[in-house]
Amino acid sequence: MPLWQNEIVKIDSKKIVAAAAAARAGSVSPYSKFKVGAALLTQTGEIIGGANVESASYGLTCCAERIALFKALTAGQKNFAAIAVVARCDGGPMPCGACRQLLAEYAPEARVFIADSDDLQTVKTFTVRGLLPHAFRLAP
Ligand code: THU
Repeated sequence: MPLWQNEIVKIDSKKIVAAAAAARAGSVSPYSKFKVGAALLTQTGEIIGGANVESASYGLTCCAERIALFKALTAGQKNFAAIAVVARCDGGPMPCGACRQLLAEYAPEARVFIADSDDLQTVKTFTVRGLLPHAFRLAP
């Protein structure tokens, strides 16, 4: 059991979803015009946002979830309680497979909140394990 599981961080889904919606404003998506925002809640209560960044070489594009995760990890954060993802799409944007793998590695205990930017009151909740059972692990 991870050490931090004894810590208590209140997960306020509305607040994290609002942070993801705010982070979405930073999206750099000139090709798809599909703006995605993400926000991670750390076990110490910090919220770190990110947005998708696209490249003219389309495959180099990085999703909002990974931008938020890379920001948080490189700022020294390790333990995550939740992530919210927001975009303008019916039902909200489900994380892609690549992001699910990264979340399974670095935020395995996180709750995942998904919302449509036009309806932030309706939030779908998942677990990282539920989104990617049997994630790849590098066996020794
Ligand atoms: N995108 C995300 O930011 N997160 C996902 O989980 C899926 C897709 C972005 C990548 C690209 O900039 C745009 O959405 C269209 O695929």
